[in-house]
Amino acid sequence: MTDSSNRSATIILDNKSVEFPVYDAVHGPSVIDIRKLYSQMGVFTYDPGYTSTGSCESKITFIDGDEGELLYRGYPIDQLAENSHYLEVCYLLLYGDLPNAAELEDFEDRVTRHTMLHEQMQYFFRGFRRDAHPMAIVCGVVGAMSAFYHDSTDINDPWQREVASIRMIAKLPTICAWAFKYSIGQPFVYPRNDLDYAANFLHMCFAVPCEEYIVDPILARAMDRIMTLHADHEQNASTSTVRLAGSSHANPFACVAAGVASLWGPAHGGANQACLEMLREIGTVDRVGEYVKKAQDPDDDFRLMGFGHRVYKNFDPRAKVMQQTAREVLDLLGTGDNEVLKIAQALEKVALEDEYFISKKLYPNVDFYSGIILEALGFPTSMFTPIFALSRTVGWIAQWKEMIEDPVQKIGRPRQLYTGAPQRDYVDVEER
Ligand code: CMC
Repeated sequence: MTDSSNRSATIILDNKSVEFPVYDAVHGPSVIDIRKLYSQMGVFTYDPGYTSTGSCESKITFIDGDEGELLYRGYPIDQLAENSHYLEVCYLLLYGDLPNAAELEDFEDRVTRHTMLHEQMQYFFRGFRRDAHPMAIVCGVVGAMSAFYHDSTDINDPWQREVASIRMIAKLPTICAWAFKYSIGQPFVYPRNDLDYAANFLHMCFAVPCEEYIVDPILARAMDRIMTLHADHEQNASTSTVRLAGSSHANPFACVAAGVASLWGPAHGGANQACLEMLREIGTVDRVGEYVKKAQDPDDDFRLMGFGHRVYKNFDPRAKVMQQTAREVLDLLGTGDNEVLKIAQALEKVALEDEYFISKKLYPNVDFYSGIILEALGFPTSMFTPIFALSRTVGWIAQWKEMIEDPVQKIGRPRQLYTGAPQRDYVDVEER
C-alpha cells in the first residue's frame, strides 16, 4: 500500500467520531481507507455504480478523465499507439516495464507458439448454432479453455499463472477468428507463425484455403492500433468483473470468460456495434440533427452511442488516435467518401457544439471511431465486440495477476442497504 499522506478523515456519527487514514495516489485522487468503518461504526458506505469507490490498489493503468489522459504503466497512450505495437504493450502491461530487445523477442516467441487451439475445441465451436452471436461463442469457448488446459488452472502456482496468461493472449485471436468463420460457414484457418499478431488475426479472419491472402501492412497496423488502444482501461465493469470472479480463486479462464460476458453489454464493449448500427439507422447527414434532439429528450431512452464516458469528461484520448486511423484506413481503401463516416463526422460536429452535450461533458469515446475502422476492414458489426474482447484480454489478465499477487487480496463481498420487507412469519397458502 502507498504510504499514508499523514492526513486522516474523521467521520462523526451519533456523537461517535472515528478517524480513517488517507492514502495519496501517484496521480489522481487520494483515498480514505474505510476498511474498519463497519467494525468501528456499525455502518456501511453506499455507492451504487462505484462512482466514489476505489476497489483496489493498482500500478497498471491511470486515467485522468478531466484532462482526457490515459497512461499504461506511466506511458501516455498516444505515444504507445504511435511508436509501440500491441505485443510490446502486452509485455508492458503484464510485467511493468517496456522490454529490451531480447525480452521482447522471447515474449513474442512464447505468444506465437501458443496460438493454436486444442484440435478437439473445433467440436465445441460446431456445437453452436450458425447464427449464434460471436460473443456468445467467444464467452463459451474461453470458459471451456479450463476444460482443455488443466495444466494451467492452479492459481497458486506462478508458473501455471504465467502459462494461462500467455495461452489466453495467444489463443483469443484464434477463438475470435474461428467464431467469425463459423458464423459465415467458412473453414477455420489455422494461425501462421510467420505473421505478426494483428496480421495473423486478419489472415485467420479473411483468408480461405483455396487462394493466397496477403495482409496489407497498413490494415495490419490499423488493427494493431485498435488492439493497443483497447488493451486496458483501469477498473471498468469487465475488469472489475474479472477481479471479482478471481477473488474467489476461480481459475483464470473462468474469470476471463466472466469479463467477456460483462464486456458484451451496450453500455460497455457492445457500444461499438450499437454505434455503427445507430449511424446506419440515421442513414443520411440531414437526419443527424433529429437524432441529436432525440438523445436529449427526457421521455426518450435513446442515447447517442459512442458518446459519453463514466470517467472521461473531456475528449477520450483513444478517440483522437482512432479518428486519425479511421481516416488513414478509409483513404487507403478508397472509401474516403463513405456515407457512414460522413454521418459520424456530422454527428461529432453537432454534438460537440450542442449545449446539452457540452454541459454534460459528453464527448465521442473510443467506440465512436473503432466501429468505422472495423467495418472498413471488412468485419460485420457482430465482430466488433469480440475484437474488443481479444484486445482487452491482456488488461484483464494483468489486473487478475496483480490481484492474485496482492497480499491484502480478499474475496470481494460488497454489502447492501436492505429495504425489503421486515422480518415476518410464514403464512399457510389457504390463509393468504
Ligand atoms: N447520449 C445522450 N445523453 C447521455 C449520453 C449519451 N450517449 N450519455 C450520458 N447521457 C446523459 C444522461 O442521460 C444523463 O443525463 P441526466 O443527468 O439528465 O440524467 C447524464 O448524461 C449522465 O449520464 P449517466 O448515465 O449518469 O452517466 P454514466 O457515467 O453512468 O454513463 C455511459 C456512462 C458510457 C454508460 C453513458 O455515457 C452511455 O450510455 N453512453 C453511450 C454508450 C457508450 O458509448 N458506451 C461506451 C463507453 S466507452 C467504451 C467502454 O469503456 O466500454
